[in-house]
Parts: sequence; structure tokens; C-alpha cells
Amino acid sequence: MAILDKHTILEKNITLLSIFAFLVVTIGGIVQIAPLFWLENTIEDVEGMRPYTPLELAGRDIYVREGCYVCHSQMVRPMRDEVERYGHYSLAAESQYDHPFQWGSKRTGPDLARLGGRYSDEWHVDHLRDPQSVVPESVMPKYGFLEDRLLEGEHIEDLLRTHALVGVPYDEDVNGEPSTDRFENARADFLAQADPDSDYDGLLERYGENVNVRNFDGQPGVSEADALIAYLQMLGTLVDFSTFTPDESR
Ligand code: HEC
Repeated sequence: MAILDKHTILEKNITLLSIFAFLVVTIGGIVQIAPLFWLENTIEDVEGMRPYTPLELAGRDIYVREGCYVCHSQMVRPMRDEVERYGHYSLAAESQYDHPFQWGSKRTGPDLARLGGRYSDEWHVDHLRDPQSVVPESVMPKYGFLEDRLLEGEHIEDLLRTHALVGVPYDEDVNGEPSTDRFENARADFLAQADPDSDYDGLLERYGENVNVRNFDGQPGVSEADALIAYLQMLGTLVDFSTFTPDESR
């Protein structure tokens, strides 16, 4: 047959075969991937999701800096053993403001995606200082030095602006209207969240009621431990799974 005869040309010429194979894979890839860039609902909006507060965002940076992701994942997979151990499986929307995401693939320690509220702040302070004091067989390193490193928040506005550049809505208010309030108050919000005696109404106005305002490390000043624990205590707590129903249409 004529068409198969032509195909022998391809089969006998490695360069030509490579070029055609490349074309086929490229077209197939585009057909699958490109529509996602225009689909509004690639990430479904889920009620309760909000950007990290300035203090949580700083804590997240410390989490990344210290390489916690080397031993901890942040994604509960939709399998029975995981859901029974950690809670509801992770939604795409829960990582929507993460740059870069922290899903991870290595679990020397447990998954942390639903850690928030599971332990007290004091437990976290003790555990970070000396993991073996709470879990004797733990191989987690000590992070006590984080308590001694005080933060002033002088670069926090820049950090928010950087995240806004990649699409996190820090340039909006809680209702999604354009606003520069979150930038202008970045430092005040940063300091207020770790000081329950401060005037933190503005912080709640800008990020919603679901924000923990506490002296996380129990010591004066805002330390890196305050920021890290603020971050750990909100992980996986934003979406209310008692009322959440996945969109069945997809
Ligand atoms: C060398 C690997 C390793 C690194 C790095 C590491 N951890 Fe861990 N982590 C563990 C192990 C193992 C456990 C389980 C035993 C325990 O609780 O200490 C654990 C447990 C935890 C727990 C308790 C989780 C639970 O559900 O009981 C938290 C919280 C935690 N780690 C936070 C962190 C943070 C924050 C960092 C970075 C500052 C970090 N870990 C870095 C290995 C690690």
C-alpha cells in the first residue's frame, strides 16, 4: 500500500523519525495542556481561602529557608489511610496562594497539611527547641535558635508586593476590591498578630476573622519562632470541611 510505503521512509531515517515524533508529542501536549490556561475553573474557588497574613507569610519563608519540606510533605492524598490519619484530602485551592507550593514527596516526618490547631503553641515551642523531649525517637533537628532571632518586619511590605506580582491578591481587600491597604499596613499587621494586647482590628478587617492573634512563643518581641508557629497553626484550617461539598460537575 502506498501510504505504508511512505511510512518506511520514516522508519528507516532516524532524524526524520525524531522530527515527526517530536511534532506528534508537541501537538498532543498542547491539546491537553493549553485549555487549562483559559479555563476559569482550573482552580475552583473555595470559601474560606484567604492569602497568608504578613506574619504567616514570614513564617512560611522560614519554613522554606530551614528546609522543613525535606522531611515533611503538605498534601493529604485522597486515599483512605491518609484521610483517616490526617483529615480531609487536600484541595487544589488550599495551595492556591503558595509560591512555591509545599506538596513534597518525602515524609521522614508526618504530613503537615492539616497541622493547624492540633497542638498548643507551647507544644510547638517545646518541640522546636528539642523534638526528642516530646517524641523521644524523633530524628528532627533542634530549631531553638529561632526564638532568639527577633524580626522587625522592615521588608514585609516588599514580600507582600512580590507575592502580588505572581498573582496573590494582596492588592485587594477581603471583598476582592482593588485596595493598597494590605501593603500600607503590612508591617503593622505583622507586629499586631503576635501581640494580643495590640489593636489588631485592622488585621482582622484585612484578612478576615479566621486569624490567630497570640504571642505564639510566649516571649516579648516578634521572633522567627512566632512567625513559624503562626504559620504552622493555620495550616489546613481555612476551609470548613463540615460544610464543604466538592463541586460534582467536574
Ligand atoms: C530530618 C528530618 C526533619 C526535618 C528537617 C524537620 N522535621 Fe519535623 N519531624 C520529623 C520527624 C521524624 C517527626 C516525627 C517525630 C516528632 O514529632 O518529632 C517530625 C514531626 C514534626 C511535627 C509534628 C507533626 C505531628 O503531626 O505530630 C511538626 C509540627 C514538625 N515536625 C515541624 C517541622 C518544622 C517546622 C521543620 C522545619 C523548621 C521541621 N519539622 C523539620 C523530621 C523532620
